[in-house]
Amino acid sequence: MVTLHIEICFVHVYRKGIAEMQSLFYFILIHKKVVKKFVCKLFCRYVCTIKLNTHMATKQLCKYEERVKVFCYEKAVEKQTAREFVLNHIPSDCARVLTLSADTFSFENMVLNSRFSKNPVIDAYEYDKEIYKKGKKRFDKLKQKHQELNFYLGDIFSVDFKQYDFINLDLCGSFTVELVNRLIASLQGFKGTIFITMTKNVRNTLLRKHFDIYGAKNMADFRDNVFPSMLKDYCNLDMFVEPYQYKNKSLNTNSTEMILFGFKNVA
Ligand SMILES: C[S@@+](CC[C@H](N)C(=O)[O-])C[C@H]1O[C@@H](n2cnc3c(N)ncnc32)[C@H](O)[C@@H]1O
Repeated sequence: MVTLHIEICFVHVYRKGIAEMQSLFYFILIHKKVVKKFVCKLFCRYVCTIKLNTHMATKQLCKYEERVKVFCYEKAVEKQTAREFVLNHIPSDCARVLTLSADTFSFENMVLNSRFSKNPVIDAYEYDKEIYKKGKKRFDKLKQKHQELNFYLGDIFSVDFKQYDFINLDLCGSFTVELVNRLIASLQGFKGTIFITMTKNVRNTLLRKHFDIYGAKNMADFRDNVFPSMLKDYCNLDMFVEPYQYKNKSLNTNSTEMILFGFKNVA
């Protein structure tokens, strides 16, 4: 009851100004103990709300990151093993590599420090301005040591894929009809090797409403049959290695399961 009264007084003071302040002041004097308790309670509630909001913001951010595919698993051990899997398939005579480095250059660093006696030129792309800005600082340092590394702000699909021997298309995973179209268009006439990362499960892909366009029954059918057939039929690319599957569960048990496809022109 007292709590309610104080709350009403606060609302009045807020609405009507200083006149009500006096009555509130007298009330506080009379009910010192209760007011003290109330202030403590109010403070606790305030702290709890902040804590809850922060927690929710973090959770929402993670969900958001998953949804819009902002990359948040750079440090996962599973991701590192997947990078090694891709690295092991770079041909030794490779001269030009195209990648999506994000701001970390984890994969690019591996290529630059790998078994290659003559390192290939690596062109890394990032289309997100903020990620690019962050990455540019790291890149400037790397560039002093590795002249063969380049970093561009831009859409990787605006690049002519035919200039490259090896492409690591480490997209954030979720496929759309538009992305599939751009991928097929970009890979026409490509003569090298490409690795493509895709989300494995249907609930994570925006393609799920459009399987009929491709004549696919479901995600598994699209992923395992239709997609490889499309790359074969339209781009003359063969799946040359068993797809590699991973889930960054060391960082998040609910993380999306990913699948890595390797295609190569065998004509
Ligand atoms: C999964 S991360 C790359 C991770 C990195 N390869 C590694 O091994 O840690 C994908 C990055 O590519 C960027 N990206 C996605 N699609 C792109 C596009 N079409 N053009 C340029 N950058 C793109 C995203 O913003 C994101 O930073």
